Amino acid sequence: MNSYKATPEIEVLSSHFPIPGLGYLPINAFVLKAKEPVLIDTGIGIDSGEFMKALESIIDPKDIRWVWLTHDDSDHTGNIQDVLKAAPNARLVVNSLAAMRMSLGWEVPMQRCFFINPGESISVGDRKLTAVRPPIFDNPTTQGM
Ligand SMILES: [Fe+2]
Repeated sequence: MNSYKATPEIEVLSSHFPIPGLGYLPINAFVLKAKEPVLIDTGIGIDSGEFMKALESIIDPKDIRWVWLTHDDSDHTGNIQDVLKAAPNARLVVNSLAAMRMSLGWEVPMQRCFFINPGESISVGDRKLTAVRPPIFDNPTTQGM
């Protein structure tokens, strides 16, 4: 895990996974220090201890108000259960299909989910985040912001 400040308001939690013969899969999560702080994605599970330590070095998880999941691939959801446990004040911003697919593997707290589709927005206090469908993507639940 390597974390760094991309802008005064955006911290990056960066990792990578070696793929023999091909190179590396980059794995990034982000903390947006909005008035209502947002964690974007939760890394990959094999980084679990390091991911949580890096996250806690950036923000007290109890201050996180939103966890925005871009899609339900395992390199984005790897620490989601630990994050939701450590961030009891956060709601999970997620596409409903992603929530349903994840619920096949663990008990997704539906009452904490804020379901969002491309074109819809949330307010995080000092700005509005709008879900967008990127021009290309690798998962049917993908939404950026
Ligand atoms: Fe993906």
